[in-house]
Amino acid sequence: MFPLSSLSLLVLIFVTHATAGELSNWLITQKKVSIEKIDQAVCAPDSALGAVFASPSKSNPNYYYHWVRDAALTAKEMLFIFDEASSKSEKDYWLKKLKDYAAFSRRNQLTDNMSGSFTDRGLGEPRFSMTGPSVDTPWGRPQNDGPALRALTLIELAYRLIQNGEKPWVEKNLYTSEFPANTAIKADLEYVSHHWQEPCFDLWEEVRGNHFYTRVVQMQALKKGATLARLFGDPNAADWYESQARQIQSTLSQFWTPAQNFILATTQSERPEKSTIDMAVVLAVLESEYDDGNFSMLDSRVHDTLAVIESLFSSEYKINQIATDGSGEILGTAFGRYPRDTYDGLNTNSKGNPWFLTTHAVAEFHYRMGRLEKGDTYLRRSMFHTPASGSQSEQIQRDKGVNQGAIDLTWSYASFLSALRARSKITNKE
Ligand code: NOJ
Ligand code: NOJ
Repeated sequence: MFPLSSLSLLVLIFVTHATAGELSNWLITQKKVSIEKIDQAVCAPDSALGAVFASPSKSNPNYYYHWVRDAALTAKEMLFIFDEASSKSEKDYWLKKLKDYAAFSRRNQLTDNMSGSFTDRGLGEPRFSMTGPSVDTPWGRPQNDGPALRALTLIELAYRLIQNGEKPWVEKNLYTSEFPANTAIKADLEYVSHHWQEPCFDLWEEVRGNHFYTRVVQMQALKKGATLARLFGDPNAADWYESQARQIQSTLSQFWTPAQNFILATTQSERPEKSTIDMAVVLAVLESEYDDGNFSMLDSRVHDTLAVIESLFSSEYKINQIATDGSGEILGTAFGRYPRDTYDGLNTNSKGNPWFLTTHAVAEFHYRMGRLEKGDTYLRRSMFHTPASGSQSEQIQRDKGVNQGAIDLTWSYASFLSALRARSKITNKE
């Protein structure tokens, strides 16, 4: 649908053996694949408009659902696909998908489910069926990162729509001061600001407790939400969101104990045997763009946490013994979720594997720190384990290095595009 420019085709044809070129060629083709896969994930033919599947896999495992978290992170990338689109028709195409996503999100908010109803905690529900109805089966719920991530994406959508002359649409669907909230962003901000103190399940859907990841994305949603609220003439709400964001900020130090050189992913965990060292800490600062202040991307404690995780994963997974690719170029460590993970993509009493999205996140982390060549080692790792088709599942089998778990995980592609954006900020400066 979006053909490579003739220039990139030439590059593909003629620069096949230069090793540095190998990665940059792959980045071009993988970007195209990622955009196509996201295109397919949003508004699949047999689903409601705006629903985003986590994976097209309908069995073993069944990931054919709209997960609030995955969808928000995917829609966030759609914003940038929209920004980059060169023709009006392409722009309209992606903006339509984003508006459909917003409308479907609003419908999710109003759908009664096992977490509750619109007025009582229903916004903590982690996933919905692709046609809209709730999924009433036992699950790790609530997951309170979802509404925060969704708000973060919808806030950015609101700014784009305003720029596009569509303020009335924003007021009707995304934000007005009207209370009780009857718009999507306001409803999410109300939910977050009133419920952030309550324990919930983590982003991996496995443990109830207080989570660094959830707190950071909630804090960021409230901060950015407050700015939007002021723009829409809702100063009292803005003050309230800001006060709650400050309170969240002050709780972040609870995740740090000087005795250990890493930030705990979870406190008050209901499964104390589970690792509290977790890539969730790094994902938190990246996905919420938390790049200034205590425990932000620039805080050495986040860097130390990443270093501890890297040393554990480098010995946990056999594929990390392969240190270079066929051209002798360095392969960065393949990262999983957390050490001794037992979810293999299908069974939970098994052995966990590296994941594409966490490996992409480490690349992104280094790019954001301005370290092009270091970041590239992790995308080269991703390239090394990606088949020629560009297909990326959830996981990378720890011994064989092949795709494992849900096929074509939409989040794998979104995380790739996110890393690539951070990379282009450095290369465009050069
Ligand atoms: C599926 C979840 O999404 C995954 O994170 C978890 O590890 C397994 N179920 C087991 O609960
Ligand atoms: C399992 C992951 O642990 C969770 O974070 C994700 O939301 C679901 N799979 C769907 O991709």
